[in-house]
Amino acid sequence: MNKHIIWKFFGAFVFLTLIAVFVLNFFVGFKLRDHFEEKISEELRSNALLVGDIITEDLLVGQTGNIRLKIENLARKLDRRITVIGREGKVLADSEKPPTSMESHADRLEIQQALKSGFGQSTRFSQTLGYNMKYVAVRIDSSDKIAGFVRFALPLAQVQLQVRVIYRVVLFGAIVTIIIALTIAYFVSKSITSPIRQMQRAARRIAEGDFKSRAIIKSEDELGQLAKSLNAMADALHKQIADLRKMDTIRTDFVANVSHELKTPLTLIKGYIETLDGSALDDKEKSRRFVRIIKEHADRLENLINDLLSLSELELSPDSLCRTGFDLKILINDIALGFGHALQAGNVTLDINARGDDFNVEADKEKIEQVFVNLIDNGIKYAKDQGRIDISISGDDDAVTVLVEDDGIGIAREHIDRVFERFYRVDKARSRRLGGTGLGLGIAKHIVLAHKGRIQIESTQGRGTKVRVIIPRK
Ligand SMILES: Nc1ncnc2c1ncn2[C@@H]1O[C@H](COP(=O)(O)OP(=O)(O)OP(=O)(O)O)[C@@H](O)[C@H]1O
Ligand SMILES: [Mg+2]
Repeated sequence: MNKHIIWKFFGAFVFLTLIAVFVLNFFVGFKLRDHFEEKISEELRSNALLVGDIITEDLLVGQTGNIRLKIENLARKLDRRITVIGREGKVLADSEKPPTSMESHADRLEIQQALKSGFGQSTRFSQTLGYNMKYVAVRIDSSDKIAGFVRFALPLAQVQLQVRVIYRVVLFGAIVTIIIALTIAYFVSKSITSPIRQMQRAARRIAEGDFKSRAIIKSEDELGQLAKSLNAMADALHKQIADLRKMDTIRTDFVANVSHELKTPLTLIKGYIETLDGSALDDKEKSRRFVRIIKEHADRLENLINDLLSLSELELSPDSLCRTGFDLKILINDIALGFGHALQAGNVTLDINARGDDFNVEADKEKIEQVFVNLIDNGIKYAKDQGRIDISISGDDDAVTVLVEDDGIGIAREHIDRVFERFYRVDKARSRRLGGTGLGLGIAKHIVLAHKGRIQIESTQGRGTKVRVIIPRK
């Protein structure tokens, strides 16, 4: 294909050049020949006039002998054939033949023209000399009387020889022009096709999966633009592939995480049951403890499965919200009440502040509840001893904003961006010990986004964490 296009360009150039050169040379050649012939006639004519001047007196008095002498002399000097013809057409003198052997020239075309207009010329076969000649004749006048004619002649071969020299020069010029034009055409074709070839190669490499391959074209013309677009396309593809790969890893990680999270409590449950089965059943105290632990792990499993279910439900149909109107402040108060025991156990105090009086929203109450349960749960789980949780609620025309602030252990900067990822826990061991699986914030984010709200987290390690949730009223 690459051969094709350069030869197409090149072929077109060659064709155009040849046509241009030939047309040009054709006209130039003809014009030059015309010009040259005209120049010869002109020269012959002025020479004839001069000769006429020199012999007028002799013509008038009929001094043919004198005329012949002068003519012979002049013809030798000018290297032309000169003929002097009398008024009636009789040849009086000729530089090449004795005039007596020559017939009357009254019927010669150039003489007839000169008789009429003072100047005449013709090209024809010379009977006298036996080859083609160019003749130029002028009429010699003396005080309104015709004294005679002077005729100059030049063998046509001589004229043609000179014309041929001109043609040769023109032809040489044409060949040089063609060579130069073809060289330029070749390089121009190449300069157009080589970026195309380069792009073609880059496109092929991209198609083969090498997304880092680029077409390097610096020109600002259409080809440069095309290369830019091609590179932009490669960038976009590269990014998309990277995203796909990342998603794929997230998915695989997710499956691995889920399996692990399911396996851990199951292994423990199995272990306790086996121990019970073996000997511990007899020991009532021990059995009770084991059953309690087994129940704890079963609860965890149930929670985990519920969390996974709500995540996948949110992902599959983010729009399926079951909206009802309710007061967000009352909901948060109720949730806080539910945490009474945990707060006491963790030695944490919780305060709720409300600014304004309208906290009504139309939202999926159960899901919103899930969000704040997790935020308060996190606040308690990651609190320091004698920690505090401050919740402030405010509303404007469009939304209700809830700020959940704690003075707990905080989150280091490098983890902040990742806490919304599923299963992401800053300190895995600690979270797991506290019963966390790292799904809470991921679920919360999904729920808030499904309500077209926003959730932001700010935290300083060792100082505390602030989570702001904005729920649109509708
Ligand atoms: N208030 C907070 N203070 C300090 N760290 C926090 C706080 N909230 C969240 N984190 C960190 O972010 C991680 C993710 O939180 P997330 O709520 O998603 O998971 P979890 O609480 O560990 O588990 P789950 O919510 O599923 O029971 C936590 O493991 C914890 O490391
Ligand atoms: Mg949590």
